[in-house]
Amino acid sequence: MKVLEAGFVKGFMALCAEGYRQGWHERNGGNLSYRMTAEDVAAVRENLSEEGEWKEIGTSVPGLADEYFTVTGSGKYFINVDRVPEESFCILKVDSTGTKYQIQWGLTDGGRPTSELPTHLMNHEVKKRVTGGLHRVIYHAHCNNIIALTFVLPLKDEIFTRELWESMTECPVVFPEGVGVVPWMVPGGREIGVETSRLMEEYNAAIWSHHGIFCSGETFDSTFGLMHTIEKAAQVLVMVMSVSDRKRQTIKPDDFRRLAKEFGVTLPEKFLYEKESDLFSDLCR
Ligand code: 13P
Ligand code: ZN
Repeated sequence: MKVLEAGFVKGFMALCAEGYRQGWHERNGGNLSYRMTAEDVAAVRENLSEEGEWKEIGTSVPGLADEYFTVTGSGKYFINVDRVPEESFCILKVDSTGTKYQIQWGLTDGGRPTSELPTHLMNHEVKKRVTGGLHRVIYHAHCNNIIALTFVLPLKDEIFTRELWESMTECPVVFPEGVGVVPWMVPGGREIGVETSRLMEEYNAAIWSHHGIFCSGETFDSTFGLMHTIEKAAQVLVMVMSVSDRKRQTIKPDDFRRLAKEFGVTLPEKFLYEKESDLFSDLCR
């Protein structure tokens, strides 16, 4: 089967197009990776080449030895993914030591996989382990309102999670485990990958301060849906903060406990603390 006819590639491209439409992918902003199944690899194998050079990943991911990934290219624009797919993303294989990769399809005008490859692969390694192989998608986007909030809210998992949960009733159902926050760091290397993948042990979303979000999920739809839900909750909070100095009313810890019971989710008590004040000036102190 031609690579561009494969179902997983169609899903990959559709996510990129939708992310672009949301306004999260200025220029080359954001990146996407998908851990392929054995069936995906078999379906496109006739179009894969083993001639390419083996290159350093820049980190070590032994848990992903011999796995195949579909990954956007560094410097490539999401808007171009469905216009010039062969130039915009690639299929790569990780070697048996988990330290090198080989491009086997795509990036036909040269280039390399996303500069965030270390973070993507370290997240995949953690998620493959903690979900028993269920999670296959790692998605990074530059979401406007979440980025804005990282300039005003304290950079704490507990505060981001609680404020996002309060912003839209179904948030705790979509991300009951909460969200993690990475302080500002230089992107594109192993170090930020270590911090992000540490958070991925516990959460399915990690916020990069003044930069964007990483989400993990089983499918393109559920991973995109998580990103979309978090960003929409952030937008509601930004709207509330822009018209008032406080929340006149909100969802309270006991409301969340009732919601959790009704929807059959577990909400960690660390997010259900009593607040000292309803003033944004106190929250953002
Ligand atoms: P790449 O073009 O290398 O994927 O980088 C985009 C980005 O968002 C870096 O964080
Ligand atoms: Zn980025």
